[in-house]
Amino acid sequence: MNVIHLPLIITVLLCFLSSIVNLNASAPTRLLCEGRTNPLGIDDAQPRFSWWVQSDEANVVQSAYQIVVMDEAGQLTWNTEKVSSAQSTYIEYGGPKLKASTRYTWKVRTWVDDEEEPSEWSTPAWFEMGLLGQDAWKAKWIGHPPRMTTRSVPPVYLRKVFGIDDAVKRARLYISARGIYEVEFNGEKIGNNVFAPGWTDYASRNQYLTYDVTKHLQTGDNAMGILLADGWHNGFLMWRNAKNWYGQDTSVIAQLMIEDVNGKIHWVKTNDSWLAATGPIIESDFYNGEKYDARAEIDGWSTVEYEVEGWLQPRIEKEPTGKMVAKIVEPVRRQEVIKPISVKRDPNGVWVYDFGQNVVGWIRVKAQADRRSTLTMQFAEMLNADGSLYLENLRNAEATNRYSFKDEEPMEWEPRFTFHGFRYAGLSGIRYPFDLDSVEAVVLHNDISVTGSFECSNPLLNQLQSNILWGQKGNFLEVPTDCPQRDERLGWTGDAQVFVRTATFNMDIDAFFEKWMADMRDAQLENGIVPVIIPRLNNDGASPAWSDAAVICPWVIYERYGNERILADNFELMRRWVDYQIDTSDDYIWPGEKHGSWQGFGDWLAIDAPTPGEAPTPKIQIGTAYFAQVAKLLAKAAEILGKTEKAKYYSETSKKAKEAFVREFVNEDGRLKKETQTGYCLALGFDILPEKMRKTATDALVADIQSRGWHLSTGFVGTGLLMPVLSRMDRNDVAYRILLQESYPGWLYSIKQGATTMWERWNSYSHTDGFGDAGMNSFNHYAYGAVGEWMYSVIGGIDTLEPGYKKILIRPQPGGDITWAKTSLKSPYGMIATDWNLNGSTFELSVEIPPNTTAVIQLPDGQEFEKGSGNHSFAVEI
Ligand code: BGC
Repeated sequence: MNVIHLPLIITVLLCFLSSIVNLNASAPTRLLCEGRTNPLGIDDAQPRFSWWVQSDEANVVQSAYQIVVMDEAGQLTWNTEKVSSAQSTYIEYGGPKLKASTRYTWKVRTWVDDEEEPSEWSTPAWFEMGLLGQDAWKAKWIGHPPRMTTRSVPPVYLRKVFGIDDAVKRARLYISARGIYEVEFNGEKIGNNVFAPGWTDYASRNQYLTYDVTKHLQTGDNAMGILLADGWHNGFLMWRNAKNWYGQDTSVIAQLMIEDVNGKIHWVKTNDSWLAATGPIIESDFYNGEKYDARAEIDGWSTVEYEVEGWLQPRIEKEPTGKMVAKIVEPVRRQEVIKPISVKRDPNGVWVYDFGQNVVGWIRVKAQADRRSTLTMQFAEMLNADGSLYLENLRNAEATNRYSFKDEEPMEWEPRFTFHGFRYAGLSGIRYPFDLDSVEAVVLHNDISVTGSFECSNPLLNQLQSNILWGQKGNFLEVPTDCPQRDERLGWTGDAQVFVRTATFNMDIDAFFEKWMADMRDAQLENGIVPVIIPRLNNDGASPAWSDAAVICPWVIYERYGNERILADNFELMRRWVDYQIDTSDDYIWPGEKHGSWQGFGDWLAIDAPTPGEAPTPKIQIGTAYFAQVAKLLAKAAEILGKTEKAKYYSETSKKAKEAFVREFVNEDGRLKKETQTGYCLALGFDILPEKMRKTATDALVADIQSRGWHLSTGFVGTGLLMPVLSRMDRNDVAYRILLQESYPGWLYSIKQGATTMWERWNSYSHTDGFGDAGMNSFNHYAYGAVGEWMYSVIGGIDTLEPGYKKILIRPQPGGDITWAKTSLKSPYGMIATDWNLNGSTFELSVEIPPNTTAVIQLPDGQEFEKGSGNHSFAVEI
């Protein structure tokens, strides 16, 4: 053998060996810092680390870990050494102060069980600190002149040319806006964020983003361009056609940090040396759409070569009172692209493209005009009987894009600063339809990952799962919104609160809710009231089940992710809201006279309600039940945070509110004085009734359901509780009956009417009766999707016994005509999965439990097992 080949042979041999020994098998994976993979630009002084323990072995629990953090020079910044602990989520950084604009690399290794040898080190991950401290912001807020208009005004183009003497080692752009922006360097767009920096109450907090722009810069002259639009700051908000809610000072602040090869730092900042102009975007607004005139294009506006003509100095705007904070959640980005399934001409001559799915985003058009013309694009969730777009439910939202062709050259266009909720796009102003390949729907939402899946033998339930997930995708757009299409799209707290538990199954919403809870803290009134829309607009009243989001949302995030900090960060918010109720209630019946006359939205949109807000369940009954429930959760939070006295006090408060509820609303035999399904759901679901009354109450609830031909009658408040309550009271038979009900009202009814998302009303549309009241008829409203949690946890059988699924409950409860179900969840510890099959009377189950967790497995025949990580199979007769 020729010696020259020896190294090659050794390499091949090593590769072969490592493939059978798998040297890296136990290195931890999925390294997250602050819940994100390699976050760029964070400002948390103590970022938290999480990972998945890996092992090919079964029954594995982490016994120790070691984290090492290094700075850019490779210097050790923090070394935990070996820490004996099973904790593998949210470990707080504990080293010396982290420096601004510095990238840190970190890795982790673990020990499992009583093994002496650690795992391999993980592949390194990193996080980078942003601009720390308010003083670091030296640039000016620039924008266009103020205007007094009720219509949208054109977005402003801002540009600046600057020189770089030496080669660039690295460059970072720090940027925030009161409005929304896109950035270009030397003619090229930076990043793929949409609607950055997102939405906050700008008077309280302004989010900034960090971009790595190193490769976009060159030695010599460079041009930077910012395109700035109204967005939430100045655009239309609310159904009352409000505009300029936050003021008229749409503006942007940017600081570009350039480090050259010699280590010298240079800054380029927004100030009065920039230039401003308007361009082809004539108007852009979330509700109304975008209007684009290609004839006014300013080609090369962000290049050095561009010849500036008629550009003006931007106006320097006042500094906002709000502080600058790094954005903690992944921004909105393009998520998927959907092709239309058909195009048809409607009676008005509009070409109607059907995407087969109600989505949120916009359309991208690749087309050519046969003459100078204007293409009009309209958006609808449904069609009228004659095939035309159903636009009535958009209310005042114009939802129309216009593109004026400059010539007959092919173009490719999508808007930038608007979005629509639609399944159909209607194109007009063209003589012939564009072919199906030329029009596509671009789906937008925050770039957070899908974590759950649910599938079973019933195709209608699979469609329901799909509708719930699409409802979540479409409404998780910077804040959890009620709907994405009409002149609303707001952070309604009640909707988010009833849906949040389901939402944790579908997607990783930990950081998304951390951010929204910060919005809620900003919004809380002096007296403790939590407004019903967050970020706060002008609805300052408190409503039971809406304002209670203040306690329920952080609690659910804690419960599902094990994120204790969300409790600590929001403890004061929760406490003040509960104290407000203590203060204003009347001997623990809420609300009392001190609160004022408005008692909230009630069981919004329930069956039998003459108007949406006048459902039969008494509002003070709802208020008192929620008061008892949130006081209880607050007590638990206090306990976890080590506030023992407070825990005692609020647990006592909860007890008193429960007693008040029973005194006021329940007959001696356990039946409610005013009997409604929602009333019983609250009384049983929040553990208000004493043990001895529960059976009577359950029977009464079931009797009501039966009297309605096995139909529900619940609105926003009762719906999420109904199924879990029936299961807890051992009435899965009834729960399955309601769930599988195909006639009105029920979950499958809308599916039988063609729904591809969750609807606002149980009867938003029917083949026989047409559309519900257009005044409030969204086809993408997730509140009733709260049933998703039950499908995951009762049909699929995945639930948590200890925060974040550290201890898992596997308890599939088959029922109805369902013969198999496959469910999975990417939990903070790894993948949890169940897969069951009913084979005659044999129930077969396979379960996957991730490392570093344990599970209690309860089988339908009553057997119970404690298991560790790994795959487990069972077969029992039922
Ligand atoms: C929204 C709801 C919201 C409600 C308040 C509606 O206009 O769309 O989802 O919770 O108002 O009751």
